[in-house]
Amino acid sequence: MQLKPDEQSISIDDQESRADLDRTLLQFPQGFLWGVATSHFQVEGNPEEINGRHSDWALWTATDGKILDNSTADRACDFFSRYDLDVELCKSLNLNAFRLSLNWPALCPTRGATFSRQSVDFYRRLLQTLKSNGFKTFVTLFHFCLPNWLAEVGGWNNELAIEEFDRFTEMAIQEFGDLVDFWLTLNEPLAYAYQGYIEGAWPPGHRGNYVGAFRSIRNMLEGHARSYATIHRLQSAARVSYTFHWIPFQARRKFNLFDRLSCYMRDQVFNQVWMRATETGILSFPPPICLEPAVKKISGPIEGLKDSIDYVGINYYTRQVCEFKWEWPPDIFGIRSDSPELETSGLGWEVYPQGLYDLLTRDLNSYRLDANGKPRDIYITENGLASMFPADLTDGDWSLKDDIRERYLVSHLMAVHKAIGAGANVKGYLHWSLLDNFEWAEGLRARFGLVRVAYPTLERTLRESAKLYARIAGSNALFK
Ligand code: BGC
Repeated sequence: MQLKPDEQSISIDDQESRADLDRTLLQFPQGFLWGVATSHFQVEGNPEEINGRHSDWALWTATDGKILDNSTADRACDFFSRYDLDVELCKSLNLNAFRLSLNWPALCPTRGATFSRQSVDFYRRLLQTLKSNGFKTFVTLFHFCLPNWLAEVGGWNNELAIEEFDRFTEMAIQEFGDLVDFWLTLNEPLAYAYQGYIEGAWPPGHRGNYVGAFRSIRNMLEGHARSYATIHRLQSAARVSYTFHWIPFQARRKFNLFDRLSCYMRDQVFNQVWMRATETGILSFPPPICLEPAVKKISGPIEGLKDSIDYVGINYYTRQVCEFKWEWPPDIFGIRSDSPELETSGLGWEVYPQGLYDLLTRDLNSYRLDANGKPRDIYITENGLASMFPADLTDGDWSLKDDIRERYLVSHLMAVHKAIGAGANVKGYLHWSLLDNFEWAEGLRARFGLVRVAYPTLERTLRESAKLYARIAGSNALFK
C-alpha cells in the first residue's frame, strides 16, 4: 500500500499498512490538539440522574423495547466514580484535549432551582483533574438529554426550552467558566431532531413529525443564539460553537433524477438549513417544504444568530447512500439504501474519509471566515467507528485487535492532514470515543471505544487502535 497524501482518493488497506506507515511521516502543525470526545449520559452512570430518573433518557431506557439490546445506561462505564483513572488513561495515550458534556438533568433536577451541589462538585473535580493534567477542555451544554420537567412540557418543541437553556448556560458559566477552554452549546441538533421527531428512536419518540422536527430546530437555533450571547456577556474571551454532524449524501443511481432529488432534499435539510441559518441569521427551508403554513410560521430571522460561532466544530462519521422509493404518498426524502458500496462499520456505516476531506476543503468554504474576515479554527469534535459485541462479555481477547478501527483512524487522519495541506484551518481532532459506551437506541453493544469496557466488571483494556492513536498523538504525526 502506498500512502500518497496528494492523491485524490483516500484509502488504506490492511496488509501492508503498518509497514508503510512506519516509513511515512506526515507531520501535523505544532500545537495540534489530540483528544477524545465523550458525553455524560453515555458514560457517567450518574446516580443523581439515574436514581431519580431525572432525564428523558433515564426514563426512555427504563421502558421496554426502546433499546435494541435491552441494555440501559444505569451504570454505563461508571465514569462518575472512575473519571480520575480515565483521565490517567488519556494521559498515558499522550492526549491533550478532552470533550465532555454537562448533565443538565442531574445539575437541574427540578425547575427553577439552583444547581445540585453534588453534581457541581463532580464536574469541578473532573474539570480540575483535566486542567491540572494539562488538557484543553471542550464542554457541551446539551448532548441529547433533557431534564424531565422540561421534556414533559414538550422539550425543544416548547419555547420555554430557550429560556431554560439560557438559564442553565448562565449557571454553567458561573460554576465552571474558569475551567473550560471551548464551549459547545448544542451537540448535533439535526441528529436530535431527526431521531426524536422523524425516526422515533429517541425521546420524545415521534414518527414522521416533520413540523415537530422543524420547530425543534427553530427553538434550538434560538437557544444557541441566546446561549452564545450569554456566554460572551459573562466571559468576553470565551470560544463558543456547536457541533455539527455533517453527512455527505450520495444518490444510489447516479443518473436517476428521483434518487438525486432525495439526495438534494436530504442535503438541504440535514446539512444546509442549519449551517445557512447560523451564517445568515435567517432560518429558511427549501421548496416545497417552505410552502407549508406551519413551516412558514417558524421561518425567518433569529435575533443574535448571525455569525454566532467562534470556531467550527465538526462531527464526521460516514456518508449516506439514498434512493427514492415508489410509494403513496411519496416521500421526497427517499430512504437510506441498505446496500453499502464500501467497507462498513458494525453499524453498517460506510467508511468514507474522502467525505471529510471534501467537507474541510470545499463544503465548509462559506464558514471559513468570520464577520471580520478572520479564518475560523476548525476542530473535529467527533469521528470514530463502532464494532458490535454483546454487553455481557467479560475477560478474554475479544475485540482487542480492531484493525478496521485502525484503518478508519488513519484514513480519516490522512484526510485531515491532506486538507490542512490544502489550506483548511484544522486545529485539533477528538476521537469518538475514549471508552466503549452507551450508544443510544443501539445500547451497549455498539462499541466506539479506543478502550474496551467489559461492562460486567467495568474493566478497561486498551485496544490496538488506542496504542496506535497514542503513537500518533505522541509524535504529532502519522508516523515516526
Ligand atoms: C453523537 C454521539 C454518538 C456518536 C456515534 C454522535 O451522533 O454525538 O453521542 O454516540 O455520534 O453515533
